Amino acid sequence: MSSFPSAQASKEDAEYKNISEKHRHLIETLPKHNGWWTPYLYNYNGFWLSPNILKSNLILHSYFKPHPTDIFLASFMKSGTTWLKALIFSTLNRHRYSFSNHHLHNHSPHSTFWMLDIESYPITDFTNSLTPRLFSTHFAHTLLPPCMSSCKFVYVCRDPKDVLISKWHFMNKIRPKDLPPLSLDEAFALFCLGVSDYGPFWEQVMSYWRASLEYPDKIMFLKYEEIKKEPGVVVRKLAAFFGKPISEEEEEKGVVKEIVKLCSFENLSNLEVNKEGFEKFGKLVDIEKRGFFRKGVIGDWKNYLSEEMKERIDGIIDEKFKGSGLVFTTKV
Ligand code: A3P
Repeated sequence: MSSFPSAQASKEDAEYKNISEKHRHLIETLPKHNGWWTPYLYNYNGFWLSPNILKSNLILHSYFKPHPTDIFLASFMKSGTTWLKALIFSTLNRHRYSFSNHHLHNHSPHSTFWMLDIESYPITDFTNSLTPRLFSTHFAHTLLPPCMSSCKFVYVCRDPKDVLISKWHFMNKIRPKDLPPLSLDEAFALFCLGVSDYGPFWEQVMSYWRASLEYPDKIMFLKYEEIKKEPGVVVRKLAAFFGKPISEEEEEKGVVKEIVKLCSFENLSNLEVNKEGFEKFGKLVDIEKRGFFRKGVIGDWKNYLSEEMKERIDGIIDEKFKGSGLVFTTKV
């Protein structure tokens, strides 16, 4: 945690007071809607955020100082964040750990990244972490401080129908007991309205899609489905994107296969470290670790959504993505 000289400290305190005041005002004035695991979500600059996440966004803009070497993993919730954390960490650190005795055997993928969205004031001093520092976020690209745009981002998205089902299961696990369970019909209606933490889904995805077209050397845009299909190709792409391409020698040694195996759903979900206990996100949020691994497949939505529901979501996405060049290829 930072220790500031006293003049600096009082300046920071005054700034934090301003943020708290602004936050209070926003909560009173922004459009709100009932949420998935918080009573309400608030529409801030076009995106639905819970009160704490909204405050974190204000804090982020005031205090976060990116380093040029920082790497950010961005995603919509339930799109494969846990998987990508493992893949990025093991690709970047492939010279540091042996695959027979790997850091990820006893540390969860989440513990290898700082979660940017839920730090509270005074913001954590991230100087103790390894270089490059690894951060994850669910904020839309347009909600991030412009100073972060010089850093590299990996973005992962997923078929929205699978996102919806995954999120519905997850939210019912973490919903506070004083809120009634969320039915699939309610979750579906909220999702289609765009009312989803960090959403609308399509706006959040589009914010990174557009940025990736504009800055392809800074933003790598991935789909869960393409990683499932050819994980080795994605590992090679990641390594090259980070400026550490897989060498011929590494290819011969089977390094890519080792990374893919280490990060597979089967392997990660069966490790004791990912089955027992809670994941801590910032100071406020504890989530059961096993909740991050459910089925890990493409198309589980077919077990839950009617034809009509499928058509509705596909129709919204077709309309919102029209002309952008972004398509989900897994439609059935
Ligand atoms: P399902 O609920 O469809 O199974 P996030 O990490 O963004 O919260 O996303 C969670 C989703 O990714 C869950 O999807 C989870 O099972 C799946 N997942 C977690 N680890 C995975 C892995 N190693 N490979 C593939 N999918 C994984």
